[in-house]
Amino acid sequence: MKEKDGLRLRTGEESPLCPGPVNIPEPVIRAMNRNNEDYRSPAVPALTKTLLEDVKKIFKTTSGTPFLIPTTGTGAWESALTNTLSPGDRIISFLIGQFSLLWIDQQQRLNFNVDVVESDWGQGANLDILAEKLASDNSHTIKAICIVHNETATGVTNNLATVRKLLDDYRHPALLLVDGVSSICALDFRMDEWGVDVALTGSQKALSLPTGMGIVCASPKALEASKTAKSVRVFFDWNDYLKFYKMGTYWPYTPSIQLLYGLRAALDLIFEEGLENVIRRHSRLGTATRLAVEAWGLKNCTQKEEWYSDTVTAVMVPGYVDSSEIVRRAWKRFNLSLGLGLNKVAGKVFRIGHLGNVNELQLLGCLSGVEMVLRDVGYPVKLGSGVAAAAAYLLNNTPLIPSRI
Ligand SMILES: Cc1ncc(COP(=O)(O)O)c(C=O)c1O
Repeated sequence: MKEKDGLRLRTGEESPLCPGPVNIPEPVIRAMNRNNEDYRSPAVPALTKTLLEDVKKIFKTTSGTPFLIPTTGTGAWESALTNTLSPGDRIISFLIGQFSLLWIDQQQRLNFNVDVVESDWGQGANLDILAEKLASDNSHTIKAICIVHNETATGVTNNLATVRKLLDDYRHPALLLVDGVSSICALDFRMDEWGVDVALTGSQKALSLPTGMGIVCASPKALEASKTAKSVRVFFDWNDYLKFYKMGTYWPYTPSIQLLYGLRAALDLIFEEGLENVIRRHSRLGTATRLAVEAWGLKNCTQKEEWYSDTVTAVMVPGYVDSSEIVRRAWKRFNLSLGLGLNKVAGKVFRIGHLGNVNELQLLGCLSGVEMVLRDVGYPVKLGSGVAAAAAYLLNNTPLIPSRI
C-alpha cells in the first residue's frame, strides 16, 4: 500500500464497531454543541424533569426512580451496591467474563461477602446453582443477586426472567441488581416485569452518547433498602438526589449540561425509531453477524444459542491466529475499531459490537473489513462469504424505515 493511500484512509471517519464507546449520531453531536448554562436556572431543572420521566421508558418501568449520575458504568455499579447493602452482606454474583469479574472485584473491595458462581467464559450464569442456593437459604442470608445482563466480553446474554422466576418460586426477598450496560435500550429489558431492584447503564453504550453519565434506576424496594443500608457512600448517595428532586431543582452537584441536551436528543431519536424497533434492529444485526461468522467457518465464543447476544459477538479464531493482531490491523488498515479479547480470552477472540447507533449497511461494511483482515492474518476466508450470508438475511428481514412507511 502506498503511504499516500494510507494517509487518505486515516483521515476518513473512524468506524467504531467495538461494543462501546459507540458512534454518536449527528443530531446528538449537534445538540451537545453548546455553551454551559447555569444549572440553577429554571431551564435545566425543566429539561431534567423530562429526562427523568422519559428515561424510565428505556428501563420499562413506571415505578422506578432514575438517577442521572456524572460517572461511568463502574460508578453506576458502586451506586447500586452502596445504596442498598451493608458491609458483610452476602450476595450471589455470577462470574462469566471480564465485566462480571470486575464487578465482583468491586463487590469484594466494598467488603460484601460475595458468593461467586463461576461458569466457563462463553457460558451464561449457572441458574441451577442459583436455584440450589435459594432453596437452602431458609433464613434469607442472601441479601442480593448481582448479575450482568449482557457480558460484553464474551457476548453472552443472561436470562433475567428465569432469575426472577427462581426468586419468586422460592419466595426469596433478595434484591435483584442488574448491570444492563450493554443491554438496556438495545436488548429486551423489562425492569418492572422482571422485578429488577436496581438496573444500570452507561451513556456511551446503547444510548450512543459520550461517556460520562451513569444511569441508575431503583425500584421502590431498593429505595426502601437504601434507608437502612450501612455502606459508606458520599458522591453516590441517592438521598442527596432525592432531596433535590423534592425541591424541584434536581441537582446536588454540577451536571454536564452538554450531556443533558445530548441525552434529550438521544432519547428523541430512540422514541422516533420506536424502542421496540430499536430492539428488533439489534436482533437483526446480531443474527446477521452470527450468520457471517458461520460462513467464515469460525466459532462464536457463546456456547449455546439461548445466550447469544444481539449487541456483541465474540468471534473465536483458530490457534495459529492472534486475535489481537486482527484488531490491530483492522484499525491500522481500515480505520475500523473492533473489540479485543479480554483477560482469559485475550488473543483468542475479537469482538464485533453491533450496539447502539449502527445500521445494516455499516455492519456489512464492518463484516467486509473483518474478512479482509482475516485474509491478511493468514486465515483462508473466502472474501464476501460472510457479507453475502449477512446481506441475504438482512435483505429478507429489514423492514421499511418507520418514518418513511
Ligand atoms: C457490561 C459492562 N459493565 C460495566 C462496564 C464498565 O463500564 P465503564 O467502562 O463505563 O465504567 C462495561 C464496560 O464496557 C460493560 O461492558
